[in-house]
Amino acid sequence: MNSMRSGREFDFIIIGSGIAGLYDALLAQESGNVLILTKGSIEETNTKHAQGGIAAAISSLDSPELHFRDTISAGAGLCDPEAVRILTEEAADRISDLVRFGVPFDTVDGEIALTREAAHSVPRILHAGGDATGERIEVTLSNLARLSRKITILEYCLATELILEDGQVTGVSAIDLRSKSVEEFRSRCVILATGGMGRLFKITTNPDIATGDGIALAYRAGAEIVDMEFMQFHPTALRLPGVPLFLISEAVRGEGGMLRNEAGERFMLKYASEGDLAPRDIVARSLVREMKRTGTDRVYLDVTHLPARLISARFPQIYRYCLDHGLDITSSWIPVVPAAHYMMGGVRTNYWGETNIRGLFASGEVASTGVHGANRLASNSLLEVLVFGKRIVEKAIGGSDTVPSAASEVAVLESRDKIEGRNTACSVTALESLLWENVGIVRSAQKLEETAETLALWERGLRPASDRPSFEIANMVLVGRLMAEAALTREESRGAHYRSDFPQSSDNWIKHIVFRKSRDKDGSGAQVI
Ligand code: FAD
Ligand code: SIN
Repeated sequence: MNSMRSGREFDFIIIGSGIAGLYDALLAQESGNVLILTKGSIEETNTKHAQGGIAAAISSLDSPELHFRDTISAGAGLCDPEAVRILTEEAADRISDLVRFGVPFDTVDGEIALTREAAHSVPRILHAGGDATGERIEVTLSNLARLSRKITILEYCLATELILEDGQVTGVSAIDLRSKSVEEFRSRCVILATGGMGRLFKITTNPDIATGDGIALAYRAGAEIVDMEFMQFHPTALRLPGVPLFLISEAVRGEGGMLRNEAGERFMLKYASEGDLAPRDIVARSLVREMKRTGTDRVYLDVTHLPARLISARFPQIYRYCLDHGLDITSSWIPVVPAAHYMMGGVRTNYWGETNIRGLFASGEVASTGVHGANRLASNSLLEVLVFGKRIVEKAIGGSDTVPSAASEVAVLESRDKIEGRNTACSVTALESLLWENVGIVRSAQKLEETAETLALWERGLRPASDRPSFEIANMVLVGRLMAEAALTREESRGAHYRSDFPQSSDNWIKHIVFRKSRDKDGSGAQVI
């Protein structure tokens, strides 16, 4: 690696070029110069893959209050009501921002078209290009960012460390992946917009970039990481032999698609009164139970009763992807399985996106603002980015405060430095399988313990990261460990977190698990608040 070059200075540094990074940059450029660092090409993001759309109460049948209630109800007791209030009340204004930026939402008779997704009581989801919502957003915002003279975009630039001085963030260290040079960039305002961590699991809807880097960077810098046990599994990812996994949007069920088992029976009503449109965690677990009961490794989504023209027009990407792989969904059922999809937890923020480190903000999937609780309501994540992104930029311009930690009870987790070696070698493939098997849809103490120990061992054996693969694996091991330890600590089942040894929810667990790096040694500090 080439030696360090230092010091280009910016008013704002944003790590990530998905909807969070781009939207925040477009707002921030009005007040100063902005640097966006992104580890791949600009569009390599989860955002680009978003299908269903963005939830917002904009129809006359709907209200922020109803959206609030649906979000709280899906969150299974762990949403922060004030954060949800902000989300649902500021939604319509933020959608107007996207319209102003030029995002081409689909319309019917001149009005924005709305669809339904699971656990929303009314049609409330705006979409673009049918099921290409994320791609339309990514292209629109990245084109604007590229045109701006106030925004510098560095692609293939991997952020590897947050730089702090006296508890204040002052910059970011990064590797230019093409020249291999290391560079430091300076700013007193750094926005983490690094997205999610689905790649920790063997079966996932997420693209390669989703390795949890932002959570690892923030944790190492001393930020609080919360709710890591709440990974959301999407019930319906296409399963065709030899074909890369592909999401089949929940909006397909919203438009009338039906789940069937191998024998063609509709089974969801056996498991939930809302049937096919029950909350996502319930549908995902029901699929697992039904597959086990029938001895199969998939179920089916049936849209063959819907008009063929409706399917191809409303879901052009899904229709085309399946057809390109030999499946005509207008006449054949779609084989589907659950897949790791979205991290509800992340870097803990207040209502202004501030973390407990001065000058460090978290935006988008890397953040945990409190709106999702134990289970995110479909299509609330793109909305969360807009609502809290706007607040982040307002706060950053006005000057960031240090955010006091609200933590009360403190429990310190084992550092696990006494475990002796097991013979498994650390690799991405081994990690993805370990997490999928042991920290997946159904968990238990024994498997979680085993996983935490294995990851702790792997962590000890890692060499200092010097390139993208070694940096990503180090992050995945750390973030996987935070997830396994949190899941082990929460001895109950709630939302997306299901423990076969504690299958019920418990009122004792209406609280959050917060990790912060302990100051005296390498072990993790966990606070239960
Ligand atoms: P991302 O869009 O993932 O962007 C993260 C960025 O950070 C990338 O540019 C990445 O390269 C960069 N990065 C990461 N680490 C580093 C590093 N170390 N250095 C430099 N750069 C780095 N949500 C909805 O609300 N509605 C939907 O319909 C919907 N559908 C979805 C469908 C799929 C298949 C998936 C995977 C997710 C979907 N979601 C949906 C979730 C939603 O898309 C994401 O939560 C959201 O797009 C996250 O945006 P983001 O900007 O936070 O992260
Ligand atoms: C989907 O289209 O099913 C994904 C929606 C989401 O994850 O919010």
